[in-house]
Amino acid sequence: MFGLLRTDQSRHVIIFVFYILEAVFAEESHTMHHPNHLQDIFVKEEYHFLNVPGIGTFTVYDTFDCTFECLSNPSCLSLNLAASKGADGKLWCELLTSNKDINPGELKENKTSHHFALKGRFRPTSCVEYGQQSASKDGIYKIYDDGGNSFPAYCDLTSEAGIAWTLVMSWSRENRLISAFYNTALQINAPENETSPNWDRYRLSLERMRSLQVHSTHWRATCSYPTHGIDFRDYLRGNFKDFDIVDFLGNGECKRVDYVDIRGHNGTNLTVSFWQQKYSYTLHTDSRLAGSCKFDASVGAVSGEDNFGFYEVMNPKFRCTQAGNSTTQWWFGAHLKK
Ligand SMILES: *[C@@H]1O[C@H](CO)[C@@H](O)[C@H](O)[C@H]1NC(C)=O
Ligand SMILES: *[C@@H]1O[C@H](CO)[C@@H](O)[C@H](O)[C@H]1NC(C)=O
Ligand SMILES: *[C@@H]1O[C@H](CO)[C@@H](O)[C@H](O)[C@H]1NC(C)=O
Ligand SMILES: *[C@@H]1O[C@H](CO)[C@@H](O)[C@H](O)[C@H]1NC(C)=O
Ligand SMILES: *[C@@H]1O[C@H](CO)[C@@H](O)[C@H](O)[C@H]1NC(C)=O
Repeated sequence: MFGLLRTDQSRHVIIFVFYILEAVFAEESHTMHHPNHLQDIFVKEEYHFLNVPGIGTFTVYDTFDCTFECLSNPSCLSLNLAASKGADGKLWCELLTSNKDINPGELKENKTSHHFALKGRFRPTSCVEYGQQSASKDGIYKIYDDGGNSFPAYCDLTSEAGIAWTLVMSWSRENRLISAFYNTALQINAPENETSPNWDRYRLSLERMRSLQVHSTHWRATCSYPTHGIDFRDYLRGNFKDFDIVDFLGNGECKRVDYVDIRGHNGTNLTVSFWQQKYSYTLHTDSRLAGSCKFDASVGAVSGEDNFGFYEVMNPKFRCTQAGNSTTQWWFGAHLKK
């Protein structure tokens, strides 16, 4: 059906070979039986238009020519193509560096256009790639783990300029005694609702946490992010190089963080005391027990006050434990490249 009226046969042979190569290298290839079919390489959305800036518009004779242009351009992730030919017998074809995973909500029904998305070229392993592709809305995005499986994850792309954060776990004070949030170290596999990100009861499997860790440089903890966003009050951020929170086990060890705030006490580039034990403590600090660590938030603390996890003793002045519906989040992230 493609280009039957064209005489340039050799070009179609080249295109055919290109399709096979792309199909072989696409990760979906093992499920393919006919790698030369357009639908194995592109997902077609009939009568749709992805409303994002393009990287070039061509006039072409047929669908094949337009998809070929996209395959030939390494930054092309999808394309819009005229649904019917113009007076000159040609179609307009617009290449895009984005797709509907990156810009959900921008795929619109449209009588004059079809949309084609290239399979397999964009396989983000964290929210950082979405930030890198200029996705600008916070929300759920499709992420691939190192096992090649996709899962929905919550991305915070806006709260800290130039950094993208992937949500790793979140729970409400009401759920504080569930063992994944109370007495299970991060290095133990204890997923909770891992395929439906939510604020009240959510923790990724260890495999997915590790996969995100590989693609992240930093971690942070936040309090009631859905209500307060990020204003750096009751907030903790560090980097994996100084402190690998996934593998750490210890009692009151001083670890360096980039920034910490607990109830308005705050500091930059200093040590904080941390606890984590495989089956007794989820990662947390205790603001009453600074020990020999630099950060001291004992003024205004309650005796044994737990912060950012293992809420055995709670202070209502700390935003993570203010009320039953207060929530705690842990995130992994990295700076976007310029
Ligand atoms: C359909 O897409 C064309 C571009 O091809 C655009 O100019 C037009 O505004 C779109 N129409 C609707 C209803 O979105
Ligand atoms: C989370 O998991 C619990 C227990 O498995 C379930 O009752 C709850 O509905 C889940 N919540 C969401 C938002 O999926
Ligand atoms: C950091 O501490 C100072 C007082 O030392 C306080 O004025 C400021 O509000 C604190 N910052 C945050 C984000 O709470
Ligand atoms: C943080 O503090 C340590 C020890 O005081 C110092 O060696 C390091 O350069 C500091 N890092 C930054 C980014 O300021
Ligand atoms: C908890 O619920 C109260 C009352 O409905 C509400 O005012 C408050 O904003 C909620 N807090 C959080 C952290 O969601």
